[in-house]
Parts: sequence; structure tokens; C-alpha cells
Amino acid sequence: MNRVIIIGTGVAGLSVARALTPYVDVLMFSKGSVDDGATPLAQGGIAVPIGPADSVHLHVHDTLRAGHFTNDVRTVATVVGDAKNRLNDLLSIGFHPDRNADGSINLALEGGHSLPRVVHSKDHSGKHLHDVLLADVRKHDSVCIMPYSSVESLIQDDAAISGVIAKSTLTHEVRYYTADAVVIATGGIGAVFPTTTNPESATGDGLQLALEVGAQISNLDKIQWHPTALVADGPFDVHDGPPLTHVRMPLITEALRGAGARLVDVNGNDVVPLSMHPQGCLAPRDVVTAACWDSMKETGKSCVYLDATGLDKTELLTKFPGVVHTCMVNGIDPTFQRIPVAPAVHYLCGGITTNINGVTNVEGLYAVGECADTGLHGSNRLASNSLLEGLVMGHRCGLFLNTKHRHHKMEYMVI
Ligand code: SIN
Repeated sequence: MNRVIIIGTGVAGLSVARALTPYVDVLMFSKGSVDDGATPLAQGGIAVPIGPADSVHLHVHDTLRAGHFTNDVRTVATVVGDAKNRLNDLLSIGFHPDRNADGSINLALEGGHSLPRVVHSKDHSGKHLHDVLLADVRKHDSVCIMPYSSVESLIQDDAAISGVIAKSTLTHEVRYYTADAVVIATGGIGAVFPTTTNPESATGDGLQLALEVGAQISNLDKIQWHPTALVADGPFDVHDGPPLTHVRMPLITEALRGAGARLVDVNGNDVVPLSMHPQGCLAPRDVVTAACWDSMKETGKSCVYLDATGLDKTELLTKFPGVVHTCMVNGIDPTFQRIPVAPAVHYLCGGITTNINGVTNVEGLYAVGECADTGLHGSNRLASNSLLEGLVMGHRCGLFLNTKHRHHKMEYMVI
């Protein structure tokens, strides 16, 4: 293994690059700038079972329960079991989570979790995480990052992947790059839907590349909606359905509900009363999303509302500066006004089928992060398990490729 190509520069791709030994040449491609993917947009954080009353067992249970027990149990146990190690690794390279007065890490509560478990950096956790990972990868001389380079196709030598054809999106120059392994880490597909929290870059390119070379794809129907995206561009008629043109709806993090914001209809009634679900508006996302749609149909309104006016104003401004800013630029002051929200496509739970090391059915092809289907999420992802998956699976895939590198070297030496 002399050269590895990684397509995508989000949390998963960067984690692969960090785990590879310096003896492997790494080329990373991003079709836009290095930070125009979904990772820097993540608000919530990383689910890690480190609270005093928490355990790997409980986190595993919550993940399975949110996923309706259709998850791959072994994957869930492996990913959750490695969460603490990955967090310690992040802390060692300068990741600064929010902390409590006693110095312990502050944990946020999000939907589907039995207790506060989400390690976060205010409400811009993804941006901070991405900055830290990118800075670390940039220290590796063996890694070359190529932004504005779109991978157009994978090259197969007999059945095995042997490189990629990439085109500069600036000069349109097309080049061929050889590699011993190609890792797809291109994120999700939200941008192909009319309303989404995803960036414009989330067009499923990696899935197409994988399909073209015969990779197995699974659970593409498992699309997760986030219940609370800001209805920013004026309401749409709920009876006509979402608009036909693509609308990006900024996320209003679930952590806001975790901090006490209520999810109400136009008349101030709870959208998810405790009689509907014991966790109320902090039920898993599929439950809350369905309740939002039902409420919108019932009231004839194009949105429901997040009411954060009961929160301590200082807490709202200091813990959720991103949410406050997003609301303000859209003419809503969340300290005294309700925030109009509606469900939007958020996450692909399925994708390119892989094993627990990111290995696909095509020789030399690997997939990690949102574009991969490891079975972690089942039919409905637990909040803040996605950055965790990118960290763990990226790390595992990198380590796996290193072992192939060692074998290769040994074979070479024997010859
Ligand atoms: C959120 O902050 O609500 C989103 C977190 C996630 O998608 O896991």
C-alpha cells in the first residue's frame, strides 16, 4: 500500500488520513473548498458515554432503540465502545469542548438519549472539530489536500480499484491518479431533496462512483428528517407539500430542546405531549418529525414553533450563539419570539455497504462516514452519533489500510 486516495475532507475522510502511517502517500480530494461539506455545519456534537450515570451499555441501548432495533449490534458496540478513546485523542490535538465550572466536560441532552451525553463546543461543534482535524492533518507531510477537484470516476484494473480520474472545477483540467486503495468519504445526499439541512455539495457523488464499479448499496430508503429546521424563506403551503425548488433550511439544533425549549403548534400546544411519547419533544427524530407533520396538517400551518423564550437569556446567547445569529439574520429574535421550524431531510442512514473497517465488496474500495452503511444507525440515527461514526470508522479504516501496507512491505521483502 503506497498511495491512498480519500474522496472527501469531512470528519470521516480526515480521520482516515490521520490514522494512516507516514509511509503512505495520501491524496485527499474535495470537489469544492475543504470545508464546504456537512461536518462544519454540525451543531450538536459528538455522543460519548462519559457522564457519571452513563455507560457504553446505555449508549448502545439508546442507539438500538432509536434505530428500532434494526441496527447491526456488533457495529453499534464497536463504535460506541471506541467513543471515549476518540474523544481523548481529540482532546490531545486541541479540541476544546464546553466545560462546567468544575472543569468536567459539559454534556448536552438531545433526542432519543436517556441522559445528557453530547460533547459539544457551543452550537458550532462541527466547525470546531473540522478546524482541529484539518490543522492536524496539515501537519502530516505525507498528506496532500486537493480542493476544487471533483472525482469523475474510479479506475478498475480487472476487478480491483487502481485509481481515479479527477477534474479541476477551476481549470477543468482532467487528470488520472493511481492508488492502491480509494476511500469514499463524500457524505450524504440531502441536496437532491427539495428541503434539507445539508450543504449544496451533498449530492451523493460517492454513491454514484461506487455503483458504477459494482459496489453494494443498502438501505437507501432510510433517510432521516430533522424535525426542526428553520422556515427561513417564508412559509410554504403545507397542503401542497414542500417547494419543488431546492431550499436549504438552516438547522436549529436539538440541543435547544435539550436545554428546555418547547416544541409547540401555532396555538401553543405541545407537538409531542408526554401522552404521545415518554420523552416528549426529545423523543427520537422519526417520532418528533411525524408529530410535526401531523400538527402542521391539523393546524393548516406551514410550520410548528420552537419556543425558547422561557430559557435564561444569558444561557441562550452564550450556549447557542449560532442559533441566535441564524434567527436574527432571518428577522426572528428568539429571546422573545417563537422560531418557525419544519422537518427537512437531514441524514442518509444507508449507503455503500461496508464492514466494520470500511471495506466494501469491491477490492481496493472503502467507504466511511455518512456515505457508508455500516449498520450503526438502523432505520433511524440517534442524535450526534454521526460525527462519532466518522471519527471511529475513519480511524478504523486508516488502521486497516496500515495493516495492508505492512503485509505489502513484508511480501516485498520476502521476494
Ligand atoms: C442537531 O444538533 O440537532 C443535529 C445533530 C445531529 O444531526 O446528530
